[in-house]
Amino acid sequence: MCGIVAYIGHREACPIVLKGLKRLEYRGYDSAGVALLGADKQFKVYKKSGKVTDLEESIGSQDTTAHTGMGHTRWATHGVPNDVNAHPHMSGSGKFAIIHNGIIENYAALKSALVKRGHEFKSETDTEVLIHLIEEVYDKNDVTFEEAVRMALTQVIGAYAIVILSNQDPNYLIGARKGSPMVIGVGENEHFIASDATPIVEYTRNVIYLNDGEMAIIHNNQLTVKTIDNTIKTPYIQELEINLESIEKGGYDHFMLKEIFEQPRSILDSFRGRIHINDGRISMAGIDKFEDKFKNLERIIIVGCGTSWHAGLVGEYLFEDFARIPVEVEYASEFRYRNPVIDERDFVIAISQSGETADTLAALELAKSRGATIFGVCNVVGSSIPRLTDAGAYTHAGPEIGVASTKAFTAQVTALLLMALSVAQKRGSISTQRLREMMIEIETLPAKVEKALLTDDQTKKIAEEFKDTKNALYLGRGYGFPIALEGALKLKEISYIHAEGYPAAEMKHGPIALIDEEMPVIVIATNHSNYEKVISNIQEVKARKGKVIVIATEGDTHVASMADHVIYIPDCEESMLPLIATIPLQLLSYHIAVLRECNVDQPRNLAKSVTVE
Ligand code: G6P
Repeated sequence: MCGIVAYIGHREACPIVLKGLKRLEYRGYDSAGVALLGADKQFKVYKKSGKVTDLEESIGSQDTTAHTGMGHTRWATHGVPNDVNAHPHMSGSGKFAIIHNGIIENYAALKSALVKRGHEFKSETDTEVLIHLIEEVYDKNDVTFEEAVRMALTQVIGAYAIVILSNQDPNYLIGARKGSPMVIGVGENEHFIASDATPIVEYTRNVIYLNDGEMAIIHNNQLTVKTIDNTIKTPYIQELEINLESIEKGGYDHFMLKEIFEQPRSILDSFRGRIHINDGRISMAGIDKFEDKFKNLERIIIVGCGTSWHAGLVGEYLFEDFARIPVEVEYASEFRYRNPVIDERDFVIAISQSGETADTLAALELAKSRGATIFGVCNVVGSSIPRLTDAGAYTHAGPEIGVASTKAFTAQVTALLLMALSVAQKRGSISTQRLREMMIEIETLPAKVEKALLTDDQTKKIAEEFKDTKNALYLGRGYGFPIALEGALKLKEISYIHAEGYPAAEMKHGPIALIDEEMPVIVIATNHSNYEKVISNIQEVKARKGKVIVIATEGDTHVASMADHVIYIPDCEESMLPLIATIPLQLLSYHIAVLRECNVDQPRNLAKSVTVE
């Protein structure tokens, strides 16, 4: 939520900041702003509700000369999206400017105390409170800019990634983080700060992922990293793995479509180097580490949000099928606020594309505090979850920019499949022969996904027929059920059509009342267990005049006689169905959203990385 970017160095700051904001727009896109500070020590602040391009237009030919600057793209929490609430925010006398990603939880108490002491606020944001506080500390005490920031932060409860500038010195910039991500780019006589590495990669590959509770102080081209309580840290500079092509559209109309079509490759990348057919083993360092624990493990708990939670449901089936371990899948947001029964015998897996989702992080922290072993399945390298966990498995899907998750989901499922098989091997719950068959089957996945992508034209035609529907129902059983949930989520996220995913048999207990001749019902009816049962469910829908779109296994002519449309996908192992059957559902949602002229990559009200609870 919210993207922040800052630059200090020898180049013009404004173009770098604006370009960076466009790359971070997936994090929030209801308003944006920049603050520029040149040698004249005068802040130039431009803010606008709407997209970064609206901000750019509103800046027009106004003066942007400055070698120091910062920008923010907002996903509103406190205060409606408008020009005033957009960041940056200024301190009362205009000495300091701040951009902020996160929530200051005690802002109300801080604000009322500040108001009593005569501070006047312009916006409704929690962020403005912090910059007033910094200025007050600075003015009342004989302290430096850095000390004022540190002293103010000790009074703050909540999550933040902030960057602050002071008009006293344009060669001075301070960043700090607690609970929200921050990456520092270290170039030749220049430094960058951003919520993730995408605004930085074009200029330098050397980055530092700031740890929680740390500050980056950049003064006269010198970077110092300290904890908020003033202990100097030796920063670990690492080389970025992402490249520029992976964060650009590459000829596709939308990132989402590009990412859908990247799946043969991203799935391959998530199992590459991990399966060894000749040796008959799967190697995942994070899993191998707990070999002894797995032998007697009694329970796995999986936590996640959104699409990652759906991947968790697939994980449940995989671990139960192969490793014979009971699994509970929890919404991270619910788990963290219950009083879950959990102890050191448990193994908790967090699934998160971004590795930053606030609820998932908090659920893991809770599990850790109760002594459980915590494990992350994440996509973004160096993000907060991998740094908190005891071990993990990266999904290697590459940067996912479209807000609706596609390739990250299939990469998560691939990683979970490998994990389940690896644990099964350690527990002796899978035969050598069966494991070998599974590995051979995994190697066929990229080709099968490629084939599933050939449904693109057909899904586009179906989309034309159903683009004006008000509701849609997705049904599946077994591995088809999480696919139904994910299909429905994709549709509602990007096309704003109400959609529900249901276990096919549960339809009789409610959703069947919704079915009429207007209602498209999308059914996963492949040639796996429960096929006959799902066919009966299709008949039940047809008997109520629903429009049936079936995802079926190629060659199945039987189902064609009872469906309005059949989308054929290649035959596959049942446990790998989510990796194939999800593809046409992603395409269907995409085409419906495009036909409805929705903003596919940046759907309203959503953000890709939800760093507030
Ligand atoms: C947001 C995104 C979803 C994502 C969910 C969890 O809601 O829009 O696409 O599935 O967060 O994010 P995570 O990064 O933890 O997978």
